[in-house]
Amino acid sequence: MSNVVIVGVQWGDEGKGKIVDLLARQIDYVVRFQGGNNAGHTVIVDGKKAALHLVPSGILHEGKICLIGNGVVLDPVVFTQELDTLIAQGVDVSPSRLKISGKTHLIMPYHKALDQARENKLEKGQKIGTTGRGIGPCYEDKVARVGVRASDLTDPELLRAKIAAALKEKNVLFTALYGMEPLSVDAVFDEVMAAAPRVVPHLTDVSSDLQQAWKEGKSVLFEGAQGIHLDIDHGTYPFVTSSNTVSGNAAAGCGIGPNRLDRIIGILKAYTTRVGEGPFPTELNDATGDLLRANGGEFGVTTGRPRRCGWQDIVILRESARLNGLTDIALTKLDVLSGFDEIKICVAYDYQGRRMDYPPQESGALERVTPIYESVPGWKEDITACKTWDELPEAARAYVLRLEELSGVPVSMVSVGPDRNQTIFR
Ligand code: IMP
Repeated sequence: MSNVVIVGVQWGDEGKGKIVDLLARQIDYVVRFQGGNNAGHTVIVDGKKAALHLVPSGILHEGKICLIGNGVVLDPVVFTQELDTLIAQGVDVSPSRLKISGKTHLIMPYHKALDQARENKLEKGQKIGTTGRGIGPCYEDKVARVGVRASDLTDPELLRAKIAAALKEKNVLFTALYGMEPLSVDAVFDEVMAAAPRVVPHLTDVSSDLQQAWKEGKSVLFEGAQGIHLDIDHGTYPFVTSSNTVSGNAAAGCGIGPNRLDRIIGILKAYTTRVGEGPFPTELNDATGDLLRANGGEFGVTTGRPRRCGWQDIVILRESARLNGLTDIALTKLDVLSGFDEIKICVAYDYQGRRMDYPPQESGALERVTPIYESVPGWKEDITACKTWDELPEAARAYVLRLEELSGVPVSMVSVGPDRNQTIFR
């Protein structure tokens, strides 16, 4: 199998974990290249169930090598906890199969404190709805060139100096602006160093490991987190996460050339969801939205928050197709749409009296578009036992074909339930 990038093409929570799990069997390496423990998915393999936030989902597959690239931000405390959970389940998390780039930036206690303090202080309407995991402040320090990298754990003196420098600035914010107690250098240093013996053995040079893998003819899966419309540049700014979620970042986020990325699969939920704040043109604040939430179990794995729900939005999908160079789509949760008399698809937007096939790019414009819908017939049958394309009701097939037609991207997989065998390959 060639090298595959998996990205969520909406606002996250598209069901990437299941598709990664399915493809991982044919793959030798699974790599994460951006985001941190703001992500979350539940993976069940051979009866072992794990809610993972940081460690690549390939870890539950025996023999697969999992890498955490330089583009990820890693909370050493969370990493240690996730290791313990996996060890308790008998999963092999030895450094020979779970490796972290020395260039990966560490989420420090002050990043988490700042993320939460800042979010609490924002007025309604300005809040981002972050997961509060310190993601944004960690990326800020990385770009400001004052971040702590995983390799710094091997140099306690340097680590302490970096913490002292960071707190000089951050404690002013904590005390003067947020009315909090200052953090002590010793306490932060001790907390992070306590995790060092668990992190350091996993450190590696991910770029060179991947180079070696290809020399040996191995294949690699790049596991994207969050969703394309949460991308720091191309998403619904400022209601976004703090990393580039687009497929191109798979190259920068682990130190390989972009010509290594052969296949780019967009994971698309059959309808749309979003957690946190920000524009969502097809959102349904009504009984239909409630029904999608209830039938789809739309509550966050990381924060438990109820997800906002709405109809499929092809404008958003078209934008994802062009931003990522999607080669194909894996459509998830089609079963959740069973039972509707009619299903709506947003085919374009009305923006200031103009019909738009792609999102207007002006700041805040997405708040002001009106979706233009097309209705297609629903189906009543339970499709969760369908094993082949032909077994799907005609209306379900027609819905999938219409998504293909409107987006210009072929749908190669259709998921009709959470189990691995509830997947139709086309
Ligand atoms: P942050 O990434 O914690 O800074 O949160 C920024 C925005 O991205 C918030 O709206 C979060 O709800 C959203 N977000 C972050 N990670 C995920 C994810 O994995 N799935 C869905 N939404 C996410």
